Amino acid sequence: MNMLTVQDLRKSFGNMEAVKGVNFSVEKGESYGLLGPNGAGKSTTINMITGLFPPTSGEIQIKDINVIKNPKQAQKWIGVVPQEIALYQSMSARENLKFWGRMYDLSGSELEKSVDQVLEIIGLTERAKDKVETFSGGMKRRVNIGAAILHKPELLIMDEPTVGIDPQSRNHILETVKRLNGEGMTIIYTSHYMEEVEYLCERIGIVDHGQLIASGTLSELRETIGDHSKIILSIDKDSSNLDGLAQSLTSLFSEKDIQIQDHQVMVFHKEPQLILTDFIQSVAKSGTKITSVDIVEPNLESVFLHLTGRKLRD
Ligand SMILES: Nc1ncnc2c1ncn2[C@@H]1O[C@H](COP(=O)(O)OP(=O)(O)O)[C@@H](O)[C@H]1O
Ligand SMILES: [Mg+2]
Repeated sequence: MNMLTVQDLRKSFGNMEAVKGVNFSVEKGESYGLLGPNGAGKSTTINMITGLFPPTSGEIQIKDINVIKNPKQAQKWIGVVPQEIALYQSMSARENLKFWGRMYDLSGSELEKSVDQVLEIIGLTERAKDKVETFSGGMKRRVNIGAAILHKPELLIMDEPTVGIDPQSRNHILETVKRLNGEGMTIIYTSHYMEEVEYLCERIGIVDHGQLIASGTLSELRETIGDHSKIILSIDKDSSNLDGLAQSLTSLFSEKDIQIQDHQVMVFHKEPQLILTDFIQSVAKSGTKITSVDIVEPNLESVFLHLTGRKLRD
């Protein structure tokens, strides 16, 4: 069953079209990532899905509910961690969580139990009584995540939850999200950090200039650029006979898969471990001294670069 279906979603702010016809769906239990640079349209897309504002056109369905017609009905199934932190600074972590719990109609012992559980999950049980204003950015972010999961939503939607926080909180958040997903919660996670979506998400949509320019599993996305790893041999330039080297390599690999630079020789191949020995031997045979060996697998950064000609973070 699809937890979420988005069809031809568009949003204009005046003349500016921020989202230009986005289609995707997320299955129950899946973790889906939206990866794209700043300004790509991730938050605008998320804010329409969570019912914060309506799209200019298009359809959004959560389970069997039309979100545009019945935003309130869909909202009880979803937890939202918005990009901007929204907490009462002069209240404690516990008080903030209780406030949000009441918003979801929790009360009495059910509310207390839920707050205790959430404090454990976000790792702030010890600091529950402290005012939020004494917390680091990462701890505040964790309280925000806690507020989103008090009512045990089926779908958790997080918009760049690790931006601007310390590495320790970042790791804690990534592990928490991974665990919640492992326990069956469906996750939608936006980021401009490819490592995060690679780690967390089963399927990934790449967003740029308001459009979904590619989507699939990590290996499907890598396949779009041929899934070629790069073997890099660093060489001692003075010892090398570049012509002889080129000649012995072209007898093994096709020319388009070889790159020779001053201090590096590279070969692109789908299964680098199969050719590593041959590659090294043939370089060594030409009299070239090898100083180091590196294998670089294709990642989402290379996919984005291939699709757009730009880096994810410029
Ligand atoms: N309320 C708004 N009014 C006008 N332009 C907006 C508004 N919100 C977002 N935008 C513009 O829409 C584009 C997409 O923004 P956003 O969805 O926030 O991107 P992302 O979350 O991927 O960084 C950007 O060019 C941004 O400046
Ligand atoms: Mg954003």
